[in-house]
Amino acid sequence: MERFAQLAAQCLNTVLESPVQWTDLEFPPEPSLGDFAFPCFKLAKQLRKSPPQIAQSLLQQIQEKGTLPDGLEARTAGPYLNFIVSRQLVLQSLLQDILKGENRGNYGSIPAKTRGTWVLEYSSPNVAKPLNIYHLRPTALGAALDRIGRYRGYEVFSINHLGDWGKQYGMLTVAFRVFNKTIQSPLTMLELVDLYVKINALAEKDPTIEIEAKEAFLRLEKGDPEITALWKKCVDISLIEFDRNYKRLNVHFDHIWGESHYKDQLAPLLQDLKSRGILVESEGAWIVPVTDESGQELPPCLLQKSDGATIYATRDVAAAIYRFNQFHFDRMTYIVGAEQKLHFKQVFGVLRKMGLNWVDTCEHVPFGLYRFKDAKMSTRKGNFVTLDEVLTQAKDRVKTLMADRQKDHPQGENTKDSHEALEAVSEAVAVGAVVFHDLHTDPVRDVEFDLERVVDFEGETGPYLQYAHTRCLSILRKAHATGQAPETIEFDPALTQHLTTDVELHLVKSLGQFPIHLERTLKFSKASQLAHYLIDITHLFGTFYRECQVLGQTPELTRARLMLVEATRRILGQGLQLLGIPLPEKM
Ligand code: ARG
Repeated sequence: MERFAQLAAQCLNTVLESPVQWTDLEFPPEPSLGDFAFPCFKLAKQLRKSPPQIAQSLLQQIQEKGTLPDGLEARTAGPYLNFIVSRQLVLQSLLQDILKGENRGNYGSIPAKTRGTWVLEYSSPNVAKPLNIYHLRPTALGAALDRIGRYRGYEVFSINHLGDWGKQYGMLTVAFRVFNKTIQSPLTMLELVDLYVKINALAEKDPTIEIEAKEAFLRLEKGDPEITALWKKCVDISLIEFDRNYKRLNVHFDHIWGESHYKDQLAPLLQDLKSRGILVESEGAWIVPVTDESGQELPPCLLQKSDGATIYATRDVAAAIYRFNQFHFDRMTYIVGAEQKLHFKQVFGVLRKMGLNWVDTCEHVPFGLYRFKDAKMSTRKGNFVTLDEVLTQAKDRVKTLMADRQKDHPQGENTKDSHEALEAVSEAVAVGAVVFHDLHTDPVRDVEFDLERVVDFEGETGPYLQYAHTRCLSILRKAHATGQAPETIEFDPALTQHLTTDVELHLVKSLGQFPIHLERTLKFSKASQLAHYLIDITHLFGTFYRECQVLGQTPELTRARLMLVEATRRILGQGLQLLGIPLPEKM
């Protein structure tokens, strides 16, 4: 449908003064109204006519000029000019496009690296703390945008900006001394966290700990070998733990460049800023007075403390410059919690003040928190629930649900193989459930987490979509096993005349909207856009399946409808995979 939306936009542009993009077109609420809608509200002021009059006059001009392409029809609906794609075009051309290529094909993809460079920073947890469920938000969203960006032709560079520098690492080295640990001590992540918690508790009673920690960090910044070795040990222990989690989520980064990666660039940066008068002294510390993009004054950005130490923001300014010099990006996106909005405005303010015009291509995508329905979880100290813990609970729940199903439909015996298969499927469904639930929530809203709802096999959940996908697979398997279809379903133009119902037409049109939703997902940095679309096509597939018998019809009708099952499998499978949802074969 992307192609047809482009044609509709081109046609509109033959009569509009300021051109529109195909992504500006909307979808009418009812498929019978049309496939794309051009809203005329914005033009009303400029043209001094009512939106319905404008829609009418645009239609007339298009008809007079004869610029409407074959297969597209235009109609007004009040203040909208709507475009309808012909049945012929949908069933012949669109369905063929969807079924092109092998396995999942590449419908809606754009050749790699043809659209510019996108630096995408996501996940970015702090070292020496386990991944909190809250970290799933930037990790799942970032990884989804990363995959979709590549699929849609961007050259993506993904960066994990670990929090691995700062006074707290000085604190950890003090903990080593106080609790008699050395560089040789075998330490797990849990023990490391425990050390950190204990030293902080001690620091509350003993102010000298804080002073020692500050000194230790200053020594670390100066490259002291002993402190550096301890610090590196903490980072390495954490990375092993993070990697285990990232593997579970199938997340990979091009670069794990923590804050420490920029440590040697900080002094020259501060020097440069001072010499240009951008960094000014204020009560012994060094700050940059900054404004936002509209010139509104913000609280100044602190870059160097009075003891000479750098801070979080200093590293971010250095990191942005370094990344631009490395990649000459066309866009840089930071997926970071909403509580850091001001921080990013200030960092961007410093870059703007430095005259770095590319700052206008940088954006902060904020996200909300997790809220638990389970009272035990929500009253946990600091609301600290690990990602691991949530995944494990989800997995247990999936196993219970699957065992209940097994009781209803016993299949085969209880062998070691079947036990392993159950483990693998439960893991896939649990990860799918938790990740989908996160992604289908608009990033800026909080995630309401209720385990039973998240893992439910019905409703708008990951397992529901995974199940619909396995349903497509099983229909195709059965068709093959009973000789009603070849092993791979290919597009056959002669069969499309058998697809005569509205629901079939509507299903193909909706499947064809896939690229449009991918594009919107990227434009707004919201994977919820794609997630909701996948829910919609799953519902539609359900209606199709109920109303249109697939197997056991005349051979032509069965084969024609199998093309729709195959098309649904492809789009649903590709969409879920781009979101990072595993695809079990059976559930
Ligand atoms: N490590 C930080 C935290 O956990 C997030 C880092 C975000 N990225 C950045 N470039 N500042 O709060």
